[in-house]
Amino acid sequence: MEHAVLEQLRKSISIYDRSGIFLDFEERFRAHVGRKFALLTNSGTSALHSIYEGLDLRPGDELIVPAYTFYATISPLAQYGVFLNQVDADANGNVDPAKIEQYVTPRTRAIVVTHMWGHPCNTKTLLTVAARLGLPLIEDCSHAHGAADGNTMVGSLGHAAAWSLQGQKNVTGGEGGILVTDDETLFERALMLGHYNKRAKQQLSVTSRYRDFATTGLGLKLRAHPIAIAIADEQFSHLRDWTSRRQTVANQFIAALQPYSFIHLPNTAGTQPAWYAFVFHYDQGRAHVPIDRFVRALHAEGLVEVDQPSSTGLTAGYPLFTRTPEVLPRLYDSPMLLNASEPQPNAARFFQTAIKLPVWLFDDEMHWVSSYIAGLRKVCDVVANNPAAFG
Ligand SMILES: Cc1ncc(COP(=O)(O)O)c(C=O)c1O
Repeated sequence: MEHAVLEQLRKSISIYDRSGIFLDFEERFRAHVGRKFALLTNSGTSALHSIYEGLDLRPGDELIVPAYTFYATISPLAQYGVFLNQVDADANGNVDPAKIEQYVTPRTRAIVVTHMWGHPCNTKTLLTVAARLGLPLIEDCSHAHGAADGNTMVGSLGHAAAWSLQGQKNVTGGEGGILVTDDETLFERALMLGHYNKRAKQQLSVTSRYRDFATTGLGLKLRAHPIAIAIADEQFSHLRDWTSRRQTVANQFIAALQPYSFIHLPNTAGTQPAWYAFVFHYDQGRAHVPIDRFVRALHAEGLVEVDQPSSTGLTAGYPLFTRTPEVLPRLYDSPMLLNASEPQPNAARFFQTAIKLPVWLFDDEMHWVSSYIAGLRKVCDVVANNPAAFG
């Protein structure tokens, strides 16, 4: 990685057009998911924002969104005066395709999904639903670099897809993002949101209606940093190997946790998850020990990375989506941006019972896997055999 940084430092630390490391990475990434266009941005949020701009939304339009995701999947939509209809989750926390249709209205413009925690959505069913409804499918693949449903890579089938390249992600540049699509109209508008002058002039088609606006773009600058992309490029070259290493670690967690009836493991049938994290579910009713006591016991064993994810959560839980007029009065008076009062029981249960473990990758980290497994077994055995010990 140091080598990639130094090499880029010597070449260029600002790239105005589609050349150098931007060209190389976009081409590699585009080919990896088999799409026509790729566009790097300075964050995953900006990549999603650019896709939403590409949809050419109007105030009052509506979108179908996940009830459970990281909020940045949908937060850029607050800039558009649109309304969001959240849809309940399936067993992996992903949008349940069977629940979409009831929220579609004549104003619905797109279906947005996230491949949660690296587990591919049921993309083929989602595409069937999207085709029947005549709506584009937008995939947030920020947890799911390299994940596949059967042989189908996430991000390869929907109308457009975005990945974060932020520091925690399976492919990272520290900060960064990338989007892909086959739709030239969407791409040109997405490009114009945060790219301008040389890059816009280079990539807009000869007949593009944006040609006269190429110098300024639409007024924002969302360009990536070349050193970040040089790091991401180096990481990307390891993706296949790293995904299989993550799978090996996940297999060990699965084997260790399988015996306990109060632990629910992710459904991985027919998929290659990215294992961005290992998220399992704790069934308090079966365990007879409250989840916070269970997590505290794991922390007491030194498993301090065990986490109940909170910033990835219920979209209805954020004031940005429920009290929008207080911060964006120029776009919203009432009602609120999101149909937050609709109960989404599966998403709520997923959120309340999720426990997250890191999926370590490198040889010198593997001792954590064995010590976490020993700690998990120890605490789970007490829950299984002597729950009264928790008081
Ligand atoms: C599912 C999801 N979507 C979008 C984002 C936003 O990406 P970024 O932090 O690069 O803006 C993240 C980042 O954590 C994410 O996890």
